[in-house]
Amino acid sequence: MDPRKMLNFEGKTVLVTGGGVGIGRGIADAFYAAGATVVIAEIDPERAAAVREALPNAVVVECDVLKRGAPRALAKVVEETSGKLDVLVNNVGHFVHALPFDMLSEDQIDEIVDVNLGQVLRMTHGLLPMLRAAAPGASIINITSIEAYRGVPYCTVYAAGKTGVSGFTKALALELAPEGIRINDIAPETTDTPQVAIDIMIPPENRVNEDKWIPLGRFGKPSDCAGAALYLASPMAEWVTGTAIHVDGGALAAAGWTRTPTGEWTVVPMVTGNGLVIPGAFPGDEALTEKLAE
Ligand SMILES: NC(=O)c1ccc[n+]([C@@H]2O[C@H](COP(=O)([O-])OP(=O)(O)OC[C@H]3O[C@@H](n4cnc5c(N)ncnc54)[C@H](O)[C@@H]3O)[C@@H](O)[C@H]2O)c1
Repeated sequence: MDPRKMLNFEGKTVLVTGGGVGIGRGIADAFYAAGATVVIAEIDPERAAAVREALPNAVVVECDVLKRGAPRALAKVVEETSGKLDVLVNNVGHFVHALPFDMLSEDQIDEIVDVNLGQVLRMTHGLLPMLRAAAPGASIINITSIEAYRGVPYCTVYAAGKTGVSGFTKALALELAPEGIRINDIAPETTDTPQVAIDIMIPPENRVNEDKWIPLGRFGKPSDCAGAALYLASPMAEWVTGTAIHVDGGALAAAGWTRTPTGEWTVVPMVTGNGLVIPGAFPGDEALTEKLAE
């Protein structure tokens, strides 16, 4: 097929959950620009209004995808809009409560699992008939996280939910492959969005070495995930299912490796001085403190 036509989504219908801002919005914008009929499910009325204004031909549904009945309602909208769904983008997700595991209540645990895993299962389940109507060639894209592939303190349940989605993706890929429906994940590293607002999370004095932390030299932008989504939904990826693209600037490959302010690679945490002689660091062990100070 002509590569120039492979990213043309005219005649295709794409549903993006949480498409009002952030990564979901970046993905919705990209499919819209590529000619798709875009349906957006967005809980926040102001964000829904903003995206309605920016993408006048999109169908913006103000709804909470966590609610039972939301998948059925969205399937009805898709049915009435075009009778089929070519691409489902399960983008909604949130760490919700960043706390040590034993400080979470049972209700908080359930909440985090539902936002990151439960609703993804229910949305996919409810939209499958519409995806089948577009098969072969339909596909599902789940936005997971780099935290599905490494440990993350204080976001244990979030990591479990995202890793759960990764298992779901692999298993469902097998079930749906004979019908020509593909399912893949996009796993982003820190991406500048309202949920992960980099200017607020990282004070300017700590950002001087940002270009050293991520191998490709910067944090993510929603358009980085949008590029991956266009590829995964396109015929370019027709032999790709049950897998994930790490949209992470090389962070997962780097694992603990980073660059020092002078540009050398190191896997040793960067410290000032020798990092050990902190007054009172070894209370009761004066001998050790003295030895380290030598
Ligand atoms: N931003 C990052 O650094 C990052 C990193 C890894 C993974 N992710 C994942 O990417 C996805 C998007 O993240 P983001 O940073 O763009 O988030 P965001 O919070 O900035 O945007 C999410 C959008 O979804 C909407 N939304 C939230 N709950 C909803 C619900 N129940 N029903 C309908 N709409 C709802 C919000 O109003 C918002 O418009 C999430 O799954 C997140 O876990 C983000």
